[in-house]
Amino acid sequence: MDARHAPSIRNLAGVDVIRVNGRVRLEGTVGVVGAKNSALKLMAAALLAGGRTVLRNVPRITDVAIMAEVLRRLGCEITIQPADAKSCTVIADVPAEPLVEADYDLVRRLRASICVLGPLLARRGHVRVAHPGGDEIGSRGLDMHIAGLARMGAEITSEHGFVIARAARLHGAQIWLDFPSVGATENLLTAAVLAKGETEIDNAAREPEIVDLCRMLTEMGARIEGAGTATLRVEGVDELKPVEHHTIGDRIVAGTWAYGAAMTRGDVTVTGIEPAFLDLALDKLTSAGATITTTAGSIRVQQADRPRAVDIRTLPYPGYPTDLLPMAMGLAAVSDGASLVTENIFDGRFMFVNEMSRLGADIRTDGHHAVVRGRERLSGAPVRATDIRAGAGLVLAGLCADGTTDVAGSHHIDRGYPGFLTDLSSLGVTVDRAEAPLDETYTI
Ligand code: EPU
Repeated sequence: MDARHAPSIRNLAGVDVIRVNGRVRLEGTVGVVGAKNSALKLMAAALLAGGRTVLRNVPRITDVAIMAEVLRRLGCEITIQPADAKSCTVIADVPAEPLVEADYDLVRRLRASICVLGPLLARRGHVRVAHPGGDEIGSRGLDMHIAGLARMGAEITSEHGFVIARAARLHGAQIWLDFPSVGATENLLTAAVLAKGETEIDNAAREPEIVDLCRMLTEMGARIEGAGTATLRVEGVDELKPVEHHTIGDRIVAGTWAYGAAMTRGDVTVTGIEPAFLDLALDKLTSAGATITTTAGSIRVQQADRPRAVDIRTLPYPGYPTDLLPMAMGLAAVSDGASLVTENIFDGRFMFVNEMSRLGADIRTDGHHAVVRGRERLSGAPVRATDIRAGAGLVLAGLCADGTTDVAGSHHIDRGYPGFLTDLSSLGVTVDRAEAPLDETYTI
């Protein structure tokens, strides 16, 4: 959109828009804080022990505020102490007998609420959690969560939109997952730690966030072997104790800025992240022509020339993360040549492609494949974010476009990126925002 024709951002107040002026280059240093997808699960795992759990380096994002509300409604006292602009400490005082119902009102806002299923079933012997349904990135089944818990002796029914599980005491079991599901691995792990006997989860997810959860559970007194491998062996214990834990850095936020650097031919250093979490994603940037320099805890990405097209396929960790797919697509959209981008995790992940096409990206999809023919330059336009990652990807694409891009639905970005606009400004980019956090109840 030509800046002259864009309505004043003030007229968009309440419409929830981030306005980006294009043809800029990201340059500077940005620090990432704890990972959303670790912190939410660590908060749920706090339910496994009565008393005070303290979680540090938790991102100040809407999803954390919603998880705090989920825990409050389960009878926990939750205090959130801001540590700095982007992170906070969550103090969870968990009662001896937490309540056992997570209602639809919160579960529909935060799918990760389903992570209370394992801990509550293990601790209380029964639980009712609203079925989250599908969402903007796909159908998102629960069959593996349910089948695994059933193997451990739970009786599970589905009534009036709730998943209801009962088991006087879960017992250890041999569980093979059809697919290394992150959520199923977490629910089964957090149930197994208090089950009677040994559980083996095969084809388990290996994401760094699972390893972080295993670390916290082990600190709590759980007996787990194989964290970070496809086979998790858990010897159940009778009781766990509350602990203090520091959340690992967010590899997806770090990856977002790394891809932003490559797309805008910039020079960005990201701190607060273990580079090994992004090995494959960074290797793709090297193939695209970027110079990558890493230290323990930081990544620098410098891109001098137009990126070269690379093929990318998402897979469970250590494969290419599906949460960086919109950034991969944005990179492909401005690269020299054609890229084949394949999504193997979520059936709705390409939902945002039509929005990126509005920016002039040449993308054709067929099932879970997309062919992206790179263009020298995109063209600013009003677009709509359909989920957290698509929102960030569209903003980055807007930075590569002529003129102005208005990204509506920017509250999605607040769900996963603490201080998104502050980070952009650390990288030399000022964007406008028409005020909006729609869900003011759930801000930190
Ligand atoms: N699946 C089933 N049945 C199951 C479980 C999963 O069919 O019982 C399917 C899902 O429908 C999906 C695929 O398996 O197609 C992968 O699902 P998985 O369980 O691995 O993902 P998740 O736990 O629902 C987490 C992250 C996602 C991230 C994925 C994959 C959280 C809160 N969410 O979701 O993060 O994309 O793992 O890495 O940890 C995000 O942060 O924006 C986000 C969507």
